Amino acid sequence: METSVSYPGWTKILILAALATVLGSSTPVGYNIGVINTPGYIIKQFCNESVHSRYNIVLDESQLDILWSSVVSIFLIGGSIGSLSGSILADKTGRKGGLTISSILGLIAGVLFWVSKTANSIEMLLIGRVFGGLSAGLITAIMPMYMMELAPPHLKGATGALCPLGVTLGILFGQILSMYNILGNEGGWPHCLAISAIFQFIYVVISFILPESPKYLFVIKEKPALALKELKRIRNVNEELLTGEIELLKFEEQENIRQGEHWSISRVVRSPELFLPLLLVCTLQAGQQLSGVNAVFYYSSVIFKSAGLSVKSSELATIGAGCCNMFMAIMSVQTMIWFKRRTILQISLVTSIIFLVILGISISYMDKYQFMPYLCIVSVLGYVLCYGLGLGPIPYFIGSELFEVGARSSAMAIGSMANWSGNFVVGLTFPTMAAYIGAPSFYIFASIVIAILIFIRTYLPETKGKEACEIYSLVANGLKSKPLMPSRNIKEINTITNEKDTI
Ligand SMILES: *[C@@H]1O[C@H](CO)[C@@H](O)[C@H](O)[C@H]1NC(C)=O
Repeated sequence: METSVSYPGWTKILILAALATVLGSSTPVGYNIGVINTPGYIIKQFCNESVHSRYNIVLDESQLDILWSSVVSIFLIGGSIGSLSGSILADKTGRKGGLTISSILGLIAGVLFWVSKTANSIEMLLIGRVFGGLSAGLITAIMPMYMMELAPPHLKGATGALCPLGVTLGILFGQILSMYNILGNEGGWPHCLAISAIFQFIYVVISFILPESPKYLFVIKEKPALALKELKRIRNVNEELLTGEIELLKFEEQENIRQGEHWSISRVVRSPELFLPLLLVCTLQAGQQLSGVNAVFYYSSVIFKSAGLSVKSSELATIGAGCCNMFMAIMSVQTMIWFKRRTILQISLVTSIIFLVILGISISYMDKYQFMPYLCIVSVLGYVLCYGLGLGPIPYFIGSELFEVGARSSAMAIGSMANWSGNFVVGLTFPTMAAYIGAPSFYIFASIVIAILIFIRTYLPETKGKEACEIYSLVANGLKSKPLMPSRNIKEINTITNEKDTI
């Protein structure tokens, strides 16, 4: 596995796959999340009128609130279910095929959104959100795995960061298009929601020429000839230059055969030697959401308004925060090549804690001191930047680095479900929490991040530049594992030479 060979990098076909999956798969995920907030009150009105005219039921304020929260949160439930099914789909239909099916579900969702208003049907809106959620869940489970299996070793982190990049891009698109003057108004919202289908369509079209993951073909489908054909096409070099990678594929196949029967989700959950890596993935995935990132986003326009900005400017400032987020996501494609996972993640966690605490303090004393509103704005932007450094991108793909191919899809699916559940929990509890305890809610988020930091410092092995089979033994002893201790020096020397050679 020591790589004295230099691998080809961003070939045309790899770039095409990156573009197609970012724009066609993960952008619609973010779009569906970002698009629903601003025009919420208008769609809510539609729900009320639709229920009234169809069923002759008059809803009071709280009933309508419940109905509306179901429209919003059913997407997240769809996301959890979708991400769990992601592993079955990814192993049955392949990584590429799984993404195509996700996109088709997304297309159906888009059509349902589009006609829901004309049909005066809140059911269509709800079913559309379920389909959209299923599609999104599948994508977040499959896409990082697909892209990382296509990438040469030194670009794994970079391609892993593509899924979160698309999600942030989508959130930003969603926020912009759903502004009142653009599409977030009475006439425009069905179009606004349906636009996600256009992105999904892009992927379906391009997928015909995209390669299937060679790892999947070789190890899971056991079709070596086909796998090599795809690998040659992706790397665009002669077979002689690929011996290193082919050796690795063979090794992983042997491992997979040795481990016997299929790695179903229940087998992964029951395996004691996978307990720690699974816990790491789930902690990071759920922790990413429980760090309150969506709450900060949700709160940002309120914060900006109370800092004295007009409604219009605070709308713009929120989009500014979205741009910061976007900028960090773009940067992360590069930072994942430069920095070690442990280092960058710890920096990200520590700085996020600091900004969350400052945010809590500055909201509490908003009216006491004149400079507090500005401190608020600074801490929102600071938090967004620090979050994007590590906590944003890493949880999405760390599963691909911790698990070998056999168990990978199941592990990624469980992790992805943890992420959607965390999102759901925050979405459900934050409004109440904000109403009852206000600013100190952010101390709760900060404490969660502290807990994650302690756990990560103790148990997360460095995964950059290593193959999952090298990491396997470091984390196989559950909580008794000491992933930072054994043969550390040798490993690090390996990583260093590896990097020198590949750059
Ligand atoms: C829902 O619509 C009915 C009928 O138009 C109206 O009387 C009621 O106030 C609306 N409810 C809310 C919560 O807006």
